[in-house]
Formats: sequence, structure tokens, C-alpha cells
Amino acid sequence: MCFGCALSPAWADEPIIIRFSHVVAPDAPKGKAAEFFARRAHELTDGRVRVEVYANSTLYADREEMEALQLGAVQMLAPSLAEFSVLGATAFELFDLPYIFGDRAALRAVTEGEIGGRLFELLEPRGIKGLAFWDNGFKSFSANGPIRRPEDLAGKRMRIQSSRVIEEQMLALGAVPHMMAFSDAYEALRVGVVDGTENPHSNLYTQRMHEVQSHLALTEHGYLGYAVIVNKRFWDSLPRGLRRQLERAMREATSYANQIAREENMAALEAIRLSGTTEIHELAPEERAAFRRALLPVHRSAAGRIGEELLRDIYRATGFVPEDG
Ligand code: LMR
Repeated sequence: MCFGCALSPAWADEPIIIRFSHVVAPDAPKGKAAEFFARRAHELTDGRVRVEVYANSTLYADREEMEALQLGAVQMLAPSLAEFSVLGATAFELFDLPYIFGDRAALRAVTEGEIGGRLFELLEPRGIKGLAFWDNGFKSFSANGPIRRPEDLAGKRMRIQSSRVIEEQMLALGAVPHMMAFSDAYEALRVGVVDGTENPHSNLYTQRMHEVQSHLALTEHGYLGYAVIVNKRFWDSLPRGLRRQLERAMREATSYANQIAREENMAALEAIRLSGTTEIHELAPEERAAFRRALLPVHRSAAGRIGEELLRDIYRATGFVPEDG
């Protein structure tokens, strides 16, 4: 008779698998941070948890991944903050507001403050638990044609994430927004279904979009970052000790993610410059001011969906002055 077997059945020795799906390249900031988390989770749990990372939309594209998480087909994701409106959590649109974060300190005041906690609470009734916010960076516009003033984007078909704020932002420029999965963006740019897009430089470079974009303007008009989320039922079912180790691995991965994002974006910009495919335009102060003037009205149109009270709290936390610009 095997007493040991009765006390610890064979399946108890099997590692717990966390499928972590994302849409970017393995060498983009999110891709690197996901790998870091997988390694630390393995080490800290002595191999009892195995995190399988699926990069580049190989498991799910960004439109499908939320549903897959809610159904439990995948356990962990780190969608762009622009993707959370599909869950009906429209307050997340705050992250897409043009110029809302003057710098990373203003961003941290939201993600690491009380507002970040309030946002994560919105996810729980949807069967999702928020674990952390991970940085990518500030977005620039790219297109096949020079971009110096807002009018340069008028009439251009621009690929966007599925965010109402970003849609309104493109309309404010007179551009034609096309919501499209990240995995389709390169091909759409290549064949000319769309003329341009917006992204942090690391995404542009690691998806090779710069090869099919002749111009890049360093507008830094908005932010793109991530929330790392898990299927709540799965997370709550984990043995407490293991969950603690995973929380620790996530804290470490978060500091790593937030530490490398800036450097990775600077390195990507340099690599784009060196590749010679794309003319990079540094905006003059008056050009920067013209983009700001054109885009700030988007705050007003988004206020209803974000909530006036929350928007006021966000302005207070970030130090953003609405009348400014
Ligand atoms: C995009 O679709 O542009 C982003 O969501 C990609 C990402 O996850 O960084």
C-alpha cells in the first residue's frame, strides 16, 4: 500500500501552469518583463508554478484575449490600458487622454495611488484581478508623409487600439481612425490599408513598423502602458503560500518592467534612426503647442465616460491643469 500516494496524489506533484498571453514581441518591454516574471515565479516556487509565456499574439490577439481570460482559457494577460473599455471599465480611458501625464512621476501618482486601486476594483465583478501596472512609454505619430503640424494628419487613415479616446483624438486631428488588432498593424501599414499609426518607439521597432513608415514625429502626445491581470477564480484557488511567492515575483517583475521601459524606448528610437528607413522629426515648441491645442478638447468629450469626479481626482493626482494649453 502506498501511504505516500494517498497523502500526496500524483497530480499534486504536477506543476501549476499559468498561461500568460500577450501581443508584443519577446524583446519589447512587456515581452521581457513577462519572461522575467516567468523565471522568478519558477525560482521562487521551486518549480511548483510554471509560467508559459505566449508572445506576439500566438495564442490570442488583443481583441480575443480578455474573453479568453474571463473564460479561464488563459490565466494571465498584460493588455494595454487602452483595451479595458471592452470590459465596460471605461474609467481606464483616462490613460489615453492626450498629455495627461507630464512625466512618469505623474503616471505613478495614478497607478500607485488610490486611483490605481479604484480601477482594479472595477475589474473584480468581471472575474478579473489586477496585479500590477507595467510601463511602456509615450507615443509618437508615424505615417507615410511628413508630420509637423496637426493638419499633416488630416485625411490620413490611422491604425488605433480599441479606445474611444484614441478614436476621438484622431478625429480631432481630422484623421480617419481604424481600430485594428496589434497583430494586423504591420501588414495593414505595409499594404497601405492604413497610412500611419501611433506607438511608443519600442513597439514600432520590435514589430518592424518603421520599415513601412517613412516619417516619425516625436509628439509624445499620450501614454501606453499595461495592467497585468489574472483570472480571479484561478488566482483565489491557488494555495496561499504559492500566491505569496507569485506576488513577490510580480513585484520584482514590475520594478524590472518600469526600470527598463524608458531605456528600451530610447534604444528603439536610436535603432530606428540607424536603420535609415524613417525620417525622425523633433517638434519645435510651436509645433508641439499646436498638437496640444488640437488634442486637449478630447478631455472634455471623454469626461462623461471616465466620470467627472474621477477626472477631477486624476487632475489633482497628476498636477494636470485643464485650462493649460
Ligand atoms: C497596441 O495595440 O498598439 C498595443 O496594445 C500593443 C501593446 O500591447 O503594447
